Amino acid sequence: MCGIVGYIGPQDATPIILNGLKRLEYRGYDSAGLAVLNGDRIEIRRDAGKLSRLAELVNGSPISGSPGIGHTRWATHGAPSARNAHPHLGASGRVVVVHNGIVENFLELKDELTAEGTQFNSDTDTETIVHLVEHHQAAGLDLTEAARRTFNQILGAHGIVLLSADEPDKIVCARIGNAGGVVIGLGENENFIASDIPAILEHTRKVIFLESRQMAVITKEAVRIETLEGLPVQPEVHTIAWDAVSAEKGEYRHFMQKEIHEQVRALTDTLAGRVDFNDGRIRLPELNLTPELAKRIRRIYITACGTAAYAGMVGKTLIEKIARVPVEVVIGSEFRYSDPIIDEDTVVLAISQSGETADTLAAMEEGRKKGAVLWSIVNAIGSQAMRMADGYISMQTGPEIGVASTKAFTAPLVDQYMLAILLADLRGTIDDATRRALVADLRLVPDLVSRTLNSEPEIERVALKLKDIHSCLYLGRGINMPIAYEGALKLKEISYIHAEGYPAGEMKHGPIALIDEDMPVLCLTPKDPWHEKMISQIQQAKARGGVVIAVATEGDELVEGLADHILWVPETPWMLSPVVTVIPLQILAYHIAAIRGLDVDQPRNLAKSVTVE
Ligand code: F6R
Repeated sequence: MCGIVGYIGPQDATPIILNGLKRLEYRGYDSAGLAVLNGDRIEIRRDAGKLSRLAELVNGSPISGSPGIGHTRWATHGAPSARNAHPHLGASGRVVVVHNGIVENFLELKDELTAEGTQFNSDTDTETIVHLVEHHQAAGLDLTEAARRTFNQILGAHGIVLLSADEPDKIVCARIGNAGGVVIGLGENENFIASDIPAILEHTRKVIFLESRQMAVITKEAVRIETLEGLPVQPEVHTIAWDAVSAEKGEYRHFMQKEIHEQVRALTDTLAGRVDFNDGRIRLPELNLTPELAKRIRRIYITACGTAAYAGMVGKTLIEKIARVPVEVVIGSEFRYSDPIIDEDTVVLAISQSGETADTLAAMEEGRKKGAVLWSIVNAIGSQAMRMADGYISMQTGPEIGVASTKAFTAPLVDQYMLAILLADLRGTIDDATRRALVADLRLVPDLVSRTLNSEPEIERVALKLKDIHSCLYLGRGINMPIAYEGALKLKEISYIHAEGYPAGEMKHGPIALIDEDMPVLCLTPKDPWHEKMISQIQQAKARGGVVIAVATEGDELVEGLADHILWVPETPWMLSPVVTVIPLQILAYHIAAIRGLDVDQPRNLAKSVTVE
């Protein structure tokens, strides 16, 4: 998972691929490789380590030719190593693949292929793709049809690029869900493919963005796009302005919208290198969490501000439930004035996108002064919160530019879920079967988020209906209570509409007096352990004439019969449900603000990084 670059045309593919991958280096990776059709043979160079290592390999043993495909990988299945680095060759040596995403049904597919006698040469899920393609080719299909059949067999969200020595005039690629984009760059008698525009911007400004469940057959003269079902697609060709900002915004109107959509990829990157789905274990090396430290921790304080603090509230439920360690969440601006009870067996865990928020840093300093172990979950590499900590988890979201935080909210939810599992494992408070089941659920996350994002058009229609409201109550319970706070914060900060997040159970103690036909009530009602309680909340709001917008699990007829508007989400294991339920709330806030014509990316009075008390 990470960067993809491909080229077909009269030039040598190798330098184009190496330069393109270089431009995607900021996303991080642990191995790199490329495959080029050299005459009649596919040649591969790949290894663990940085692009400089790949360049060394290519210098030592040059390859020329076209087409070619390249990849930077962050490990999800199997350690970073030469054998696990992409591209992956099929058994015949005639087909090769690079891939971003997680093949959710990889174990089943691998078992089927192994039973047929296929030998696997890596630990990756990606290798199943190339073997499946060869399997269909052996049955008489050409590359395009064999690829189509394969794309329809694999579950999850993916960007995939394939080439075959037997059909040297083409590259076949696909996008399934939102595991990072697939961008096709149009040249004169040559064409380019990449996961992100910066990789190919030096060659062309004319691009086509593949939509989910579309595939493309690319020759040097032409690009043919079809759905995975085989229907032809007339693509829109976008012209990208030369300035870096427009290039970065790509097909989206605002950075916030782009960043909402980037969450599939950000979450796939979050898992990469940390989760080993083969042995069901979590690895967070930068956290420096030894078994000895894990066993002596008696309390964790999570400290953060705004959106990051709401992420911490979800983390409290996860860590207490999975690792059985008491957790308190204290907002950064209060921490140092609250005289927290800290000793050397206390952890202070700071969460911060920027890593420079003054109140969060002051809380960390307080923790340091009192002898706590300091951890941070941070997005900005090298920031103060990362440098100060004894151990950290770096959010793998890439830069977040929109002032309203989105992808830097969902990433720490998954980071804390992983942290809770690791802590439980090292403390011996979790049995093997539970650990494996919790880890296996992580594999579903990118696709669940991707499917939720597909509802954007329906959510936009709800936004149109709500665009003129003056106020809104957001209600949630249990693990989704902080999502009510976060949803309300998203709405107020970018649309300037008053919104309040509230624990649903507290309604009857006061706020219920506010409900009438002018006060819409948004209820977080996924199928989690608090579902029934939330149903009765909806009934109470309806009884008082309130307009109810519900976030509900697909197929929930009970909620469908009660609510005025529904934002559907797919069924999700409850401990991961906040990662999914927050998505429609981000999209709803975004569209209400965009419809009102507001400056979504830079709302008034707000700064991306709050470096003053
Ligand atoms: C809201 C938002 C803010 C930040 C808060 C902390 O969308 O972005 O509430 O979450 O200012 O910022 P960081 O995470 O940089 O410490």
